[in-house]
Amino acid sequence: MKIAIIGTGYVGLPTGVCFAELGNQVVCVDSSELKIQNLNNNIIPFYEPDLQDLLKSNKELGRITFTKNLSLAIKNANIIIIAVGTPSNKETGHADLTFIKNAILEIAQNLSKEDGYKVIAIKSTVPIGTNKLLESLILQYNSNLQVDIVSIPEFLREGKAISDFLNPERIIIGIDNDRAKELIDKLYKPFTERHIPLVFCSRKSAEMIKYASNSFLGIKVSFINELADLCEALGADIRDVSKGIGLDSRIGSKFLLPGPGFGGSCFPKDMIEILTTSKENKTPLTIVEASIHSNSNRSEKILQKIEKALNNNLFNKQIAIWGLSFKAETDDVRFSPAIPIIKKLQERETSININAFDPEANQNMFQVISNINYFDDMYECAKNADVLIVMTEWPIFADVDIDKLYKTMRLKTILDLRNILNPKKVVERGFNYFPLGFYA
Ligand code: UGA
Repeated sequence: MKIAIIGTGYVGLPTGVCFAELGNQVVCVDSSELKIQNLNNNIIPFYEPDLQDLLKSNKELGRITFTKNLSLAIKNANIIIIAVGTPSNKETGHADLTFIKNAILEIAQNLSKEDGYKVIAIKSTVPIGTNKLLESLILQYNSNLQVDIVSIPEFLREGKAISDFLNPERIIIGIDNDRAKELIDKLYKPFTERHIPLVFCSRKSAEMIKYASNSFLGIKVSFINELADLCEALGADIRDVSKGIGLDSRIGSKFLLPGPGFGGSCFPKDMIEILTTSKENKTPLTIVEASIHSNSNRSEKILQKIEKALNNNLFNKQIAIWGLSFKAETDDVRFSPAIPIIKKLQERETSININAFDPEANQNMFQVISNINYFDDMYECAKNADVLIVMTEWPIFADVDIDKLYKTMRLKTILDLRNILNPKKVVERGFNYFPLGFYA
């Protein structure tokens, strides 16, 4: 099929590359000339495992191209996918629809009746009712068009985008008009042939499924974070508790790892959106509110743990941080828990010195926090440190050379906020080791 994708970010680019991999003819549109030039040279604008290789091979096969020319891209397409950002508006709590509305306007201005029937699929996460609104907008701009707007929310995770896209557990299709179904069935045939369920529902329900999924997962993470604290207080072991409850298939074993709090461009924004909507409709999702509240308190809880590990004395301390992105396998620092933790540390004690290392996110974090020292080597970062804080679960941290680390640090204290180090090895080497939710 011929597909045009508007937006080449964390969702749009993997979507385009994967649809090309499935044998479609894909054109990705972006307004940035530089981005297009880079993509034409196989340079991707963010870190995502396997994406570059897959892009290169599909480009060589002539299945994916990049352009600034939206008009040309959409005229030839059967399906136009919109995957632009919908960031949260801090004042209203609602998603900002500026980019998506601009995309709709541009489509309306560049399509005509003669271009034939098109399905416009919205992959951006949008408030309930937005797909319907976008459809009336496009027809208002250009009433001659033959278009249907369908909601196909995306469930891929950053860092696992390719495998999540190609091996989804389900595909949600929000459709209010049967005319679009034939094209959608054709587009997703490679998945239905593999018995991956396509769930057809109304557009509003599809929009809701997306918010409900992210909120539910966020609630799960908040729950396990608070439970880890309780385990610490009572002497239980969160690792056994997560395993014990997760084996009950009604609960499920995933998203039961405690950490410094959820972050990223999705959970925080989507939970605020659905909470705001629920309150406006006088049916408040109090459980979502509790999770947001718990997550925003998380950095303070972590700070208390750091202070405790340093005997309540932060004065002149050298602090090393491993991991700055909001989780491993991405360079994305949006709503990273590292941000409030670093800022709070600096506010609490001005004499501290912070060194930081991330395999991919140093540059992005520098745009947010410029007054810490960035390192390209994790051991250099830990040199003379009084405490090492392991903030994200990058595999190279789990594979640490314990002897080398021991020799390079000054005070031998580690806070493992992802429970990824080997407690036995760390303690035997003589470290004061503080994991989350258990005592080593
Ligand atoms: C999330 C969803 O998982 C995707 O299904 C969805 O498509 C995406 O948002 C989106 O809306 O676009 P993502 O933001 O990439 O994906 O990150 P997750 O892997 O879900 O992690 C979210 C946060 O929860 C991270 O900060 C992570 O460290 C934290 N987390 C996750 C934990 O602290 N513990 C866990 O056990 C799992």
